[in-house]
Amino acid sequence: MRMTSLNKVQPGMILGKSILNAEGTVLLAAGVKLTPRYINRLRNFGISSVYIWDEHTADLDFRGPLRDETRLRAASTVRQVMAEIEAGLDRTMVLADKLPRLSDIVDDILNELLNSNKLIFDFFEIKAVDDYTFFHSVNVCVLALILGMRLGLTKEKLKELGIGSLLHDIGKICIPTEIIAKPGPLTAAEWETMQQHTSLGFDILRRSNEVSLPAAHISYQHHERYNGTGYPRQLRGEEIHPYARITAVCDVFDALTSDRSYRCRFLPHEALEYILGGSNTHFDFKVVQVFTRCVAMYPLGTRVRLNDGTEGIVIRVPPQAPQRPVLRIIKDRTGRTLKHPYDLPLLDYPRLIITAVLDQ
Ligand SMILES: [Fe+2]
Repeated sequence: MRMTSLNKVQPGMILGKSILNAEGTVLLAAGVKLTPRYINRLRNFGISSVYIWDEHTADLDFRGPLRDETRLRAASTVRQVMAEIEAGLDRTMVLADKLPRLSDIVDDILNELLNSNKLIFDFFEIKAVDDYTFFHSVNVCVLALILGMRLGLTKEKLKELGIGSLLHDIGKICIPTEIIAKPGPLTAAEWETMQQHTSLGFDILRRSNEVSLPAAHISYQHHERYNGTGYPRQLRGEEIHPYARITAVCDVFDALTSDRSYRCRFLPHEALEYILGGSNTHFDFKVVQVFTRCVAMYPLGTRVRLNDGTEGIVIRVPPQAPQRPVLRIIKDRTGRTLKHPYDLPLLDYPRLIITAVLDQ
């Protein structure tokens, strides 16, 4: 498989990975030959990039840090909670009913990550714009847990971080949909309402027996900034709970790398550059430092060009040096497709550097 922008997809290409919504319904199945109609359908879902089948990497099975079933179960439970509360069901009842399930899901996510030996966010998960909130919650949870593990948190603390980061935006259920889904910039009054999702979320979670107070504080504090310019309370530095400092970085990274109704996604290396730019102002620099080792700038399936002119596809991301992936070289320096592609670990070739991301 390789990752390609929808604008570069040609009819006849084969979809490499199924695209599912948060209910688990297949929007378009892997193996489908893409036609102009299908490409248009993907565009209407707000999807700007897809994985397509690629002969050079057909022997490889790319997977993210989490199994698809676990990821979908988490996203669909978050979706159900939000849908039931929006439908007018009693908030306390819904949370009492669903929180034990969410807590079990966080256990599953945590155990899967603890048992995997990669601890790296190296796969691009495609999501339709309408499902942004649910998959975003899950991605933030996974990123926060990977970061928490790398920071050496105990299992008990990881569990708190997991549930709090999964529900960090729960307060958005209290904000009118016209504001949440508004495609253009918000007015000053709308922005003020939007900012209340932090304190409203805290209010919901702190009443629950399933969520500890530190975990509930993630909702309250995830938009605070390290230099005191965030909201709602302009906390600064160590005043912000470490869980919230971790979640803030993961929240921004996943938001930037997701397609939204008003813009296409940023590539991971661009999002990472943005986060590095906010180190010590928006974000805790120690957290950012570790975060750069938790995510791949060039996820699996990214086609890149090197400074010697050769081209390859990212086939492996080493956890000890995620920014130096293993490439499958498919074109030589003159642009000729190789009859016999070969694998090249960039870690062993310090003079070779990635100069361009292709197909985007
Ligand atoms: Fe938020």
